[in-house]
Formats: sequence, C-alpha cells, structure tokens
Amino acid sequence: MTEVIKFGIRALLVVLATMVAAQAVEGDPKAGKEKSAVCQGCHGEEGISIAPNFPNLAGQFQKYIERQVLAFRDGKRTDPMMSDMAAGVAELQDIKDIAAYYAGKKRMKGAPSSNKALAAKGNVIFYKGNIDTGVYACSNCHGENGYGKDAQNNVFPMISGQTKDYLVKQLNDFRSGDRHNDPAGMMGAVAKKMTPAEIDAVAEFVAGM
Ligand code: HEC
Ligand code: HEC
Repeated sequence: MTEVIKFGIRALLVVLATMVAAQAVEGDPKAGKEKSAVCQGCHGEEGISIAPNFPNLAGQFQKYIERQVLAFRDGKRTDPMMSDMAAGVAELQDIKDIAAYYAGKKRMKGAPSSNKALAAKGNVIFYKGNIDTGVYACSNCHGENGYGKDAQNNVFPMISGQTKDYLVKQLNDFRSGDRHNDPAGMMGAVAKKMTPAEIDAVAEFVAGM
C-alpha cells in the first residue's frame, strides 16, 4: 500500500516538474506585451521597427529572439544601442515573454524592389549561391521563402522582410567578424566569401521578399 502511495507521489512530482519546465521554456506573450514597452520604442508595437537600421522582430522565431537578446546581454554580440537594452532586461523569463510576444506577431513582409536588375542578381545568389567562390545558396539554410528553418531549434532565422540597411549591415558585420555569435561560424563562413556587390544584390532581393 505505502509503495503505491510513494509511487503516486513520485508520479505527481514528475508531472509538476514537467509543467514548471514547460512554462519556463514557453514564455507568455501577454506578459511580454507589457514587458516589451521599452523595446517597442525601436522595434514597434507590432514588431515592425521604426527605422531601417533596427531589425523587425514580427514573426521571428521565439528561440532565435531569445538567443540574440542573451548574446547582447552577455557581450557575445555588440551594438551601441542594443547592448544597453539587453542589459536592462532583468530576468530570463522576461526575455522569454517578450520573445513570445514578438514571435506571435504577423510575419514581417518586404516591399518589392524598384531596382529589378539588382534584385534579379540577388535572386540568383539567394537560390544558387556562387559556385565559383563557394558561397552557399541562402535558401539552403534560410528556407525557400526566407522564412527560416529548423522549427525545433530555431537556428536559422527568418530574413525575408528585413530592411536592406539592416541586411547589408549584418552581412558586413559577419564578413568582418564584428558579429561572430553564429552557431559553428556558419554565417560568417558564407559572408566572408561574398563581395560587397553580392551583398548589395542579395540584400536588395531579400528585403523585397
Ligand atoms: C534604441 C533602440 C532599441 C531599443 C529600445 C531596443 N532595441 Fe533591439 N535592436 C536595436 C538595434 C539597432 C539592433 C540591431 C543591432 C545590430 O545592428 O546588430 C537591435 C537588434 C535586436 C535583436 C536582434 C534581431 C535579429 O534579427 O538578429 C533583438 C532580438 C532585439 N533587438 C530585441 C530587443 C528587445 C527584446 C528590446 C527590449 C528589451 C530591444 N531590442 C530594445 C535597437 C533597439
Ligand atoms: C550554412 C547555413 C547558412 C547559409 C548558407 C546562409 N546562412 Fe545566413 N545565417 C545562418 C545562421 C545559422 C544564422 C544565425 C546566426 C546567429 O545565430 O547569430 C544566420 C543569420 C543570417 C542573418 C542575420 C539575421 C538577423 O536577423 O540578424 C542574415 C542577414 C543572413 N543570415 C543572411 C544570409 C544570406 C543573404 C545568405 C546567402 C548569401 C545566407 N544568410 C546564407 C546560416 C546560414
């Protein structure tokens, strides 16, 4: 009899622990709305940013957002504006809640490019890469639509619908090594093989996706 009760209690504890763990990973978008008040000053209430050098967060993977905020907080990715902002978020749970809030917003969308010739060059890089210089096609990792890949781990972010300014800056930062928090150096390896003209063209295309 006591064995049965002990087993019952142990089972209950396991269930409770799982529930707590599930809550900790999930993040609460409602709480995140309130907690993101300061973020909204630059990234907007809907995750569409107010200036072209601020990334959009609307519909971005939750875990990707979390990882980037942690990287800024821990000094693994740096930016004069964003590093201070990340340092100001007190609790891990706050980061998860804010990330859940922005991840749940209507996905960011680009404005079609007016420079068709340049966007066409970017299209080739996006889907085919550059075989001569070993630039992998972006679609391999960021998906056919640029919506990102890997629903489990959210390693490969959504890039379609970011502004051209932001895309160019990130590609240049990966190329120079200023941004180096990418898992296994995957993105740096790609950017380092790209020419400024290729970066310009692919950013033109991706911003209009
Ligand atoms: C004063 C403007 C400003 C505020 C306020 C701000 N950010 Fe940022 N944020 C930026 C800039 C600028 C960047 C891009 C930095 C770079 O170029 O690498 C950025 C980048 C990010 C990124 C990386 C996105 C990506 O696609 O890689 C995330 C995530 C982010 N911010 C979340 C937040 C959160 C959460 C808050 C609130 C706690 C916040 N930001 C507040 C300016 C701001
Ligand atoms: C081998 C896989 C791989 C390929 C190919 C690849 N990327 Fe990435 N890319 C990544 C990973 C992983 C990240 C996330 C880095 C991080 O976590 O900081 C990333 C991040 C980015 C970012 C930053 C997004 C943000 O929100 O800050 C941009 C922009 C980007 N990639 C553009 C491109 C373009 C354009 C191409 C094609 C020329 C490309 N990538 C090809 C793996 C790849």
